[in-house]
Amino acid sequence: MATILDGKVIADEIRAEVAEKTAARKAAGKRQPGLAAVLVGDDPASHVYVKMKRKACEKAGIQSFYYELPASTPQAELETLVAKLNADPAVHGILVQLPLPKGLDEERVLQAIDIRKDVDGFHPLNIGRLAQKGREPLFLPATPAGVMVLLQRSGVKLEGANAVVLGRSNIVGMPVALLLIEANATVTVCHSRTKNLKEVCASADVLVAAVGRPEMVKRDWIKPGAVVIDVGVNRIDDPTAEKGTRLVGDVAYEEALDVAGAITPVPGGVGPMTIAMLLANTLKAAELADS
Ligand code: GUN
Repeated sequence: MATILDGKVIADEIRAEVAEKTAARKAAGKRQPGLAAVLVGDDPASHVYVKMKRKACEKAGIQSFYYELPASTPQAELETLVAKLNADPAVHGILVQLPLPKGLDEERVLQAIDIRKDVDGFHPLNIGRLAQKGREPLFLPATPAGVMVLLQRSGVKLEGANAVVLGRSNIVGMPVALLLIEANATVTVCHSRTKNLKEVCASADVLVAAVGRPEMVKRDWIKPGAVVIDVGVNRIDDPTAEKGTRLVGDVAYEEALDVAGAITPVPGGVGPMTIAMLLANTLKAAELADS
């Protein structure tokens, strides 16, 4: 039976640390950290995520600014808003929720964010530094950073481990792979064209699933004793559930419990870590602005 890696417990520790440091700033007469969240369009999952992020800010003593724009917003208007937030000293972090609606140029928007306020770590300079040896990004993307902290605080040995990342997205798969390399794991990145996917996954000491396919990773994809980190958040129909749906990860959790050495649940694994890391990044941005 696998050990359950409880992301909520670790995330709560980090949130408490952020709240404590934020209160200490206030007592020292320093500016309250501020996070501006920008949400364009009406993607229902994005609305849920942004609401959770704003609520978490308020609980940690971080000021939350919120901009909700219609999907028809022109590129120039979005970039003007980003420029205004770049110039606002009360805003230390800028988060533009992804994905953006069709027609908007994501890369240009991300590039417009002041890198000292890039608390999502998606600015091309921050991501580029992550991909280079000896270069330090100012901020790490929240979900990948959350995965790493979860592994580290759970005492998982990464040095020399065979790590397999399932998925190569800009938001999770690719930056997680880079962070695992930095932690001296030997990393394989799998994607839709990977041959012998099951066998490759079954060779992993550490398996990170981030493809967005409900319960794709089955029992025989997992090496006995492996550490399984499930980043997937998928809503599936379930007539027995009160709402008629429920959330599942990319891993068939019940099966995986029998074979994995440790595993993150969905919900309650990586999700809470993402929010905690965003708060930590916002506090770091406020500290950067002091100096
Ligand atoms: N969409 C999915 N995850 C994220 C995230 O961490 N940040 C932003 N901005 N958008 C996302």
